[in-house]
Amino acid sequence: MLIDIIAGARPNFMKIAPIIKEIVRVNDTSEAGKNSKDYWEFRLIHTGQHYDKNMSGAFFEQLGIPEPHLNLESGSGTQSEQTGKIMTRYEEVLRVRPSDLCIVVGDVTSTMACSITAKKMGVRVAHVEGGIRSGDMTMPEEINRLATDSITDYFFTTSTIANENLRKEGIDDSRIFFVGNTMIDTLLGNLERLKKPTVFNEKKLESGRYFVMTLHRPANVDEQNKLKELIDNIAKGVGDNLIVFPVHPRTKKILDDLGISYDNIIYTEPLGYLEFIYLVKHARAVITDSGGITEETTVLKVPCLTLRDNTERPETITEGTNVLIGTNPELVKPALRHLIEGDWKKGTIPQKWDGKASIRIIASIQKLWESDKLKPHEPYVDQDLMYKPK
Ligand code: UD1
Repeated sequence: MLIDIIAGARPNFMKIAPIIKEIVRVNDTSEAGKNSKDYWEFRLIHTGQHYDKNMSGAFFEQLGIPEPHLNLESGSGTQSEQTGKIMTRYEEVLRVRPSDLCIVVGDVTSTMACSITAKKMGVRVAHVEGGIRSGDMTMPEEINRLATDSITDYFFTTSTIANENLRKEGIDDSRIFFVGNTMIDTLLGNLERLKKPTVFNEKKLESGRYFVMTLHRPANVDEQNKLKELIDNIAKGVGDNLIVFPVHPRTKKILDDLGISYDNIIYTEPLGYLEFIYLVKHARAVITDSGGITEETTVLKVPCLTLRDNTERPETITEGTNVLIGTNPELVKPALRHLIEGDWKKGTIPQKWDGKASIRIIASIQKLWESDKLKPHEPYVDQDLMYKPK
């Protein structure tokens, strides 16, 4: 069995790390070893969508992800340019040696580009985190989710809501595997290894006395005036707490042009995974427009304010510690006031976010392999329309 594992952007890396660990563990414990027909050979393919050391390489080092077998070097450019580069280069890889299964994770440009390429080359596609929907067609991620899921063969889902979404779209239960959340596998697996970032002592941060903020969505950061108003309201709304703001490269370009600074905001480079989670775990609360971070705060039971109008992860709100504030800068202050007054829900942890999703994924793939369900599709014969000799 040859499996391709695709990773391209920062939020992919924590999702693939535990899957690769589980494959290595299964291979190491297999008695037949490399000669067995069940030996898991895999190619880790980095599309190169994220390329800065602190957006990519640092995560590989900290999470023990092996060097990618291939890098498609698609970084920079518009999303369509990236998509084109990833598709042509991955197609070439598959032409030389096709795999039995292409595993894509999440909802980034690389997820969509590789799933479509694999499918067209006759390779089965599995989507980890399939089925989540925000309903917001202005988000590139939503388009990526819909495009990917429309040609995915096997869905590894993180929530009962995702299962329902897929059923509504006509996907048969036999193709849906409710496994849990690989991002949470990584979180729980690294809690003992977290690292205090240098900013913590440098700025004399105290547990529970600072906020962590991340902003990178076009709706929040692309328009200078709106970004300024948003940050203004947040800086004024957090009382005597500090705000630590690791800045995404996209946001940095815009902030540099704006040239604003505040006494209570500490700007940093994007942090490593172990440092970032350390900071979140000890924070009073998190303010973000990321989706993945709302899952992490839910499990860590840290209050989270999401600066978006919708979410593809509703369970972080109905069950977790997350609240949807919207993107109107005016709405941030009242929510911060509630939080500072101590008026915030405690939250519970969604089903199967227990650190074992990757074990379930690999066990499910093993069964698919054994029952020949990773074979390329057969040509479809339409018996109803076919000419039948009398
Ligand atoms: C991507 C994902 C988004 C995810 C985010 C996390 C898509 C459509 N979006 O958004 O879902 O939440 O990653 O970070 O895939 N850049 C650098 N260095 C890098 C990476 C990016 O300078 O290492 C700059 C480039 O100028 C690039 C811009 O940031 O044009 C945006 O990068 P891109 O990969 O297009 O999307 P993100 O905004 O990072």
